[in-house]
Amino acid sequence: MRLAAVALALGILGCKGSSRPQPVPAPIKHDPHSHARPMRVAVTHLSLDLHVDFTPRMLTGTAKLQLARRDPSATEVVLDTDTLTIDKVTSCATGAPLAHRVAPPVKVLGRALSIALPADNCVAITYRTPPEARALLWVEPAGTFGKQHPMLFTQSQAILARTWIPLQDTPGVRFTYDATVHVPPGQWALMSAENPQAIAPDGVFRFEMKQPIPSYLMALAVGDFAFRSIGPRTGVYAEPGMVDAAAAEFDEVEAMMKAAEELYGPYRWGRYDMLVLPPSFPYGGMENPRLTFLTPTVIAGDRSLVGLIAHELAHSWSGNLVTNATWNDFWLNEGFTTYVERRLMEKLRGKEYADIDWALGIHDLRKALADHSPTDPKTFLALKLGPDAEPDEGLGSVAYEKGALLLRALELAFGREVFDAFLRRRFDRLAFQSTDTETFEADANAELFAKHAVNWKLAPWLHEGGIPATQPEPTSKRVVEIQALATSGTLPPAGWTTLEWVIYLRAIPATVTAASLDSLDAAFKLTSGNAEILMHWLPLLIRADVQRAEPAIRTYLSTVGRRRMVTPVYKALMAGNDRWKALARSTYAAAKDVYHPLVREAIGELVK
Ligand code: BES
Ligand code: ZN
Repeated sequence: MRLAAVALALGILGCKGSSRPQPVPAPIKHDPHSHARPMRVAVTHLSLDLHVDFTPRMLTGTAKLQLARRDPSATEVVLDTDTLTIDKVTSCATGAPLAHRVAPPVKVLGRALSIALPADNCVAITYRTPPEARALLWVEPAGTFGKQHPMLFTQSQAILARTWIPLQDTPGVRFTYDATVHVPPGQWALMSAENPQAIAPDGVFRFEMKQPIPSYLMALAVGDFAFRSIGPRTGVYAEPGMVDAAAAEFDEVEAMMKAAEELYGPYRWGRYDMLVLPPSFPYGGMENPRLTFLTPTVIAGDRSLVGLIAHELAHSWSGNLVTNATWNDFWLNEGFTTYVERRLMEKLRGKEYADIDWALGIHDLRKALADHSPTDPKTFLALKLGPDAEPDEGLGSVAYEKGALLLRALELAFGREVFDAFLRRRFDRLAFQSTDTETFEADANAELFAKHAVNWKLAPWLHEGGIPATQPEPTSKRVVEIQALATSGTLPPAGWTTLEWVIYLRAIPATVTAASLDSLDAAFKLTSGNAEILMHWLPLLIRADVQRAEPAIRTYLSTVGRRRMVTPVYKALMAGNDRWKALARSTYAAAKDVYHPLVREAIGELVK
């Protein structure tokens, strides 16, 4: 496989990207979640011209794709699309129409668009999105902090880029891009690219991404934003009313970058900026290159949740620079990133702090594994999902926590010096490439196991369930202390951070009485706490059948749209009596338009 990849590493950029020709390696294996056949013809550069209309909710534009013909006998290029309307397909050079075919939709994958290859190897596709395009969240003014202007943002990972751009939607293909985006005057446009630090008064924004990226890192946000510089390479965009709070919360990010560079080599993307979105953003963070997208719930006021920033920044190495070849190798993105995140937090805040995350992480993993048989392939790091399974069907905590735990086990077995050098070499060697689990296995066997006497095997971690018992159990003194308070029903001292509260609330036994919850609330006003606290607190109230929680639950669920935060509350409601179930359904009906399509679908299933 790897020899073939090297031999094929000959795709050359042309067209618009020709000022910086760079070889783009061929994908190393077939991706079940894409119609594309990039071993034959691969996209190397995208030139996008896009108009953003809030009424009706629609993107219209043209995507010009520069192609590398890897197989000389290829006569067509195959792209992914999903719910796009294709209006016209032409040759970039001549403008002549090109023969093309939109195949019938396939479940999960969407519709293949096959286009006859023109002599210039560049195709121009004029297209539109429907209002329900799954990558797009159109936010009404009421859903924003300022309540004056609408907003739009995209979420392309894992396979939703195809719902707003026709392209080869697989992490095995990388391309550079440039874009011109037309928005209503007075609005900003921002992308996963070189971004403006001031508004374009005419509403026309130009972008360039000079490093080749996979499609799931395509991102766009349009809204009423302001910019604050944080450090020489870092800054934050947010709505004007919250940009100062964001800049204060994230002031450690330059130090995080330095910590990451010391460990894993240079930051190769130029700037690292962040964009704080409304609470309907479906994730904690999304590592869009040069512009991480963030939930506002990370702004706790005490910097206690910035591990999330360390996580998204870490993706600048694990994920964005060295990318999973297919979604079956997802742990290479998220497990590595979770490990790197904790190494960064250890450098920044010390070992005790990082130990808290390790301890919470293994706790989550055990809880998730408890619901599955050890032979369930979902509990393996190396997944074997086929095209009929959604790519995020794996268990989150397996990719994140079991993946990170494997790297921690390797670190402990071989020592930091050896293991850090191994990781550093891997980031250098595989920079701007996609890679798979088999390659990792071969590299670790050759560079670690073959050279040092360590008597355990890698394969069970990758291809079996459970947690192999090859490393000391992660523990945290602080977590144990806080858990002891929670299980004995002792009230916490004043002045805790949000993170300390989260540990405490998670450890409160399911049998807790309404009366004890009442006294906690009387002392600490938790029911009017921040979203991170509420996500753990509200389920406790529901389980103890505390009816006065109803208005707080309704407010929370109709403002917060982060999938991980709303899911536990809906689950608690649906596990309750008929009154709680009815509350779940009526709240969902009223709030569902605020949710991102992904969350709308997932919660819609839950409350059925
Ligand atoms: N890349 C992920 C988010 C993601 C994963 C989106 C899969 C779509 C499909 C991001 O880096 C992430 O892991 N976010 C976490 C952050 C947390 C683990 C610190 C989140 O949003 O909860
Ligand atoms: Zn991540």
